[in-house]
Amino acid sequence: MSAVQPAVQTLNWHDHALDLIDQRVLPQRFDIVRCTDAAETAAAIRDMVVRGAPAIGCAAAFGVAAEAWEHRDDGRQAFEVALAAAMEVLAQSRPTAINLFWAIEHMRKAVAATRSVSPREASEQIEQAAMNLFNADIAANRAMGAAGAALVRDGARIMTHCNAGALATAGHGTALGVIRSARDMGKKVSVIANETRPFLQGARLTAWEMLQEKIPVTLITDNMAGHMMREGRVDMVIVGADRIAANGDTANKIGTYSLAILAKHHDIPFYVAAPLSTFDTSIANGAAIPIEQRHADEVTGYAGTRWAPEGVEVANPAFDVTPAELISAIITEKGVMLRPSESAVRALFKNA
Ligand code: MRU
Repeated sequence: MSAVQPAVQTLNWHDHALDLIDQRVLPQRFDIVRCTDAAETAAAIRDMVVRGAPAIGCAAAFGVAAEAWEHRDDGRQAFEVALAAAMEVLAQSRPTAINLFWAIEHMRKAVAATRSVSPREASEQIEQAAMNLFNADIAANRAMGAAGAALVRDGARIMTHCNAGALATAGHGTALGVIRSARDMGKKVSVIANETRPFLQGARLTAWEMLQEKIPVTLITDNMAGHMMREGRVDMVIVGADRIAANGDTANKIGTYSLAILAKHHDIPFYVAAPLSTFDTSIANGAAIPIEQRHADEVTGYAGTRWAPEGVEVANPAFDVTPAELISAIITEKGVMLRPSESAVRALFKNA
């Protein structure tokens, strides 16, 4: 079973199980976590071993495939019951990124399509369906990269938030994919990576990815973004997305909304790069996007060190919503959608 091989491969399917780069410990350590069934995959998603909207979608698809392999010798009814339970467990892992639910739906259809064959044969077809989804994500990212790179001028200094790179997808990345593609086209680009409190996806993961590829990167803390823009050191902002509503309102990592306001104030273009699998056209606007609330420990300290006083109240929303009017364009595998709106999103899905 063949997969397109990206440079940084956070998901690696082999021998009917999923190997994941453990993103909790990068860059200090490069550890692999192996998931042999849906429950282990769901735990890896929940605990942030794997994170980033497209990556968790692909992981969930492989989680279903791993479960199918585990039950390949069951009778058909037991096989279907096990896979339905597996999809339920995976759907409970994280709430905001729509790619997770999109991938589970995709796999539900793949399972249903195997109804007339034995579980053993079905498990092979389900495995192929997950692999197809993985390969399609890489292809979408490359198409997005090519479309988005046209917006990047030679010498551009690009601010990004969180990690929307190869680590967050099947490969190449969304926001970082645009940057990679611009570099591959011969443009000299540099990246300003916001640290991304509290989980530090920018400091740990984006900085690591950019250094791997020798793309110049400057790390800043989140509260330096406005200062950098005011000093004229940012030409454009490109971020990824976890869920885009029918009117273009976009949920992404906490802090994205503040960045979009800052960019507007300083007249700096603000771009979102995301595949069609990140759109949720069933919801009218961003108000209906469920925002994950994570554990207080992530805010009161880090990696076992606590700096906040015991007993303090903590809020830890993991995502925020940027209204469509603050977004200059959404870059997808189908091209660049300028000034996102309900009609532009509808047009995007017309022939999808
Ligand atoms: O909590 P995370 O690390 O899963 O959040 C990830 C993001 O917010 C990314 O920007 C988004 O998923 C796009 S990844 C291509």
